[in-house]
Amino acid sequence: RLKLIIDTDPGIDDAMAILAAFNSPEVEIIGLTTIFGNVRTPMATQNAFILLQLAQQEQIPVAEGSRDQLNGITKAHVADFVHGDEGFGNTYQKLVEGQKHSLHAAQFIANAAAEYPGEVVVLALGPLTNIALAYKVDAAVRTRLKEVVILGGAFHTNGNVNPAAEANILGDPDAADYVMEHGSSVKLVSLDVTHQVEFSSSHMDALRGKGKFGTFIADISKFYIDYYRKSYGTDSCFVHDPTAFAAVIRPDLFSWQPSKVLVLKDGVACGMTIMDHCIRNWVAPNEWSQRPIVQVAVAVQAAKVVPLLLER
Ligand code: BDR
Ligand code: CA
Repeated sequence: RLKLIIDTDPGIDDAMAILAAFNSPEVEIIGLTTIFGNVRTPMATQNAFILLQLAQQEQIPVAEGSRDQLNGITKAHVADFVHGDEGFGNTYQKLVEGQKHSLHAAQFIANAAAEYPGEVVVLALGPLTNIALAYKVDAAVRTRLKEVVILGGAFHTNGNVNPAAEANILGDPDAADYVMEHGSSVKLVSLDVTHQVEFSSSHMDALRGKGKFGTFIADISKFYIDYYRKSYGTDSCFVHDPTAFAAVIRPDLFSWQPSKVLVLKDGVACGMTIMDHCIRNWVAPNEWSQRPIVQVAVAVQAAKVVPLLLER
């Protein structure tokens, strides 16, 4: 079983991914690490406790991560218009007690990588601050991790915050670019593929009543699908984070292209991800030349991923 750390900003689709992971024998979740994004970091930690309680997995550690971006600035906005004020579609007001792990998320990831070299997969479902900080804690983390699978970016499709940028990358562009520049065994699942993987409101109706996970997801997703109705005119939602989880357990359902990726860190297109398709040798070096190879998902067998995720 893969040892999995999920770095997350729950978040409705984060909850779907985490609950699917609990139903997946391929992985053993060894920790949740939290980050701002859909909500602020303390709320992300609270929401991690809610999910652990729902799954009766309270023994799994929750290591809280950064409250600020890598540059020290606290992000002004959260995605309350997508995920609700508390991150679960304004359905969950109860406080759940939980004991945070004593370590910062970045140190937690670094320690796990040192304890199980070559065995730990990090699934990054929010801004990449904690991952960049883990690399900074100890440069060996990069090669000790088996894989870092990231939900982020948009290459051949529009971003979802604006035409240039996807939310997780724009959440901390400096951290994202740092990871693209220093990472090893990084895989990127971008909107190019997640915009093909949708749950419809009839999928949600079918989930309701299918156990406590199904009902929880159907409940919290009402707000989410409502956002898609307003924003995209559809009666369905993209399931970004669960698709990235599917890439962890079924990478064969995706086509991967070796690439080098750069993130724009300022300007009007801040957060934009640009990939070098690595199809030619650049005789004159450029900003991409010295970067490590990142595997970018360029196609997905959505007709297989959707039923897999619904089942899990
Ligand atoms: C990503 O941003 C968040 O709103 C979602 O949880 C997902 O991780 C999609 O751009
Ligand atoms: Ca997320």
